[in-house]
Amino acid sequence: MRVFITGASGWIGSAVTDELLANGYEVLGLARSDESAARLEAKGAQVLRGDLDDLSALRSGASDTDATIHLANKHDWAHPDVSNKAEREAVETIGEALAGSNRKFLLASGVAGAVPGRSLTENDASPFHGLESPRGGSENRALEFVEQGVGAVSVRFAPTVHGAGDKGFVKFIVDAAKTSGVSGYIGDGTNHWPAVHRTDAARVVRLGLEKAAPGTLLHAIGEEAIATRTIAEAIGRGLGLPVSSIAPEDAQAQFGMIGAFFGMDIPASSALTRELLGWQPTGPTLIEDLDSGVYFAS
Ligand SMILES: NC(=O)c1ccc[n+]([C@@H]2O[C@H](COP(=O)([O-])OP(=O)(O)OC[C@H]3O[C@@H](n4cnc5c(N)ncnc54)[C@H](OP(=O)(O)O)[C@@H]3O)[C@@H](O)[C@H]2O)c1
Repeated sequence: MRVFITGASGWIGSAVTDELLANGYEVLGLARSDESAARLEAKGAQVLRGDLDDLSALRSGASDTDATIHLANKHDWAHPDVSNKAEREAVETIGEALAGSNRKFLLASGVAGAVPGRSLTENDASPFHGLESPRGGSENRALEFVEQGVGAVSVRFAPTVHGAGDKGFVKFIVDAAKTSGVSGYIGDGTNHWPAVHRTDAARVVRLGLEKAAPGTLLHAIGEEAIATRTIAEAIGRGLGLPVSSIAPEDAQAQFGMIGAFFGMDIPASSALTRELLGWQPTGPTLIEDLDSGVYFAS
């Protein structure tokens, strides 16, 4: 089976590429630079050169393969409208290319802001629909293609897909602590984040490709709820810095754009995903990864 992956050279995408290659799949990875193309070829993947704005590349990648996994994202934090528009157009282009084929189309999504006051489950539909909403409402847009014979499946990743080499949200929080000399949490730090190790997340994607029916929502969530104060304490331990509460109004100054996320209470369950896929996380927990020192090497 030959699988087209956008974002195959990224943090999650490179782990998904490894997971698929190790399990007998062929991978066609979208690459926008010589460096990304070389990294993919070195591990035995095929390369399709192109950018997210190059919709003809997305169309041909999806059309010429047996399944598509869409993980690329511009992540333009200063201009979310740019990322949202690109994400929505990519999803629509891939969906249209796959219409009537019944081929699988897995896309990345998240858990932030979906339900207030309790743990998000796979039965909770995303409240985000329009182009203006987070990720351009891409999860719901992709799932609309199920009626047109597309095997759309959303994979909602924890806000920290952690591990050695992570340059995502936890790295931003570590960097904020290094810069300010204080490992902070917002308010009383009792708000929660879910987490998943990168290799466990990659296995959810592969198993979802193999087992999830069209329209399924999967949660790549290894730990349902970690208090953000516990995260800050592990960072303080690792850096030898004091740990301190940051007032919500100072969160932006302490953490930058990640402050808006670090103050969120966004627990999420993966009970249904575990049952459906027969998946159990086996990688280190977030605190084990922090305590191992991989986030603190210069
Ligand atoms: N990491 C997390 O903790 C996390 C949590 C929740 C959801 N997610 C979602 O999961 C997906 C993958 O995340 P990630 O952490 O693996 O991201 P990442 O490490 O930033 O990788 C992004 C990938 O997209 C590619 N890309 C970026 N802009 C592109 C463009 N304009 N055209 C073509 N390719 C482009 C990058 O290519 P280059 O290699 O050439 O830069 C890279 O392969 C994203 O949708 C993200 O929002 C991630």
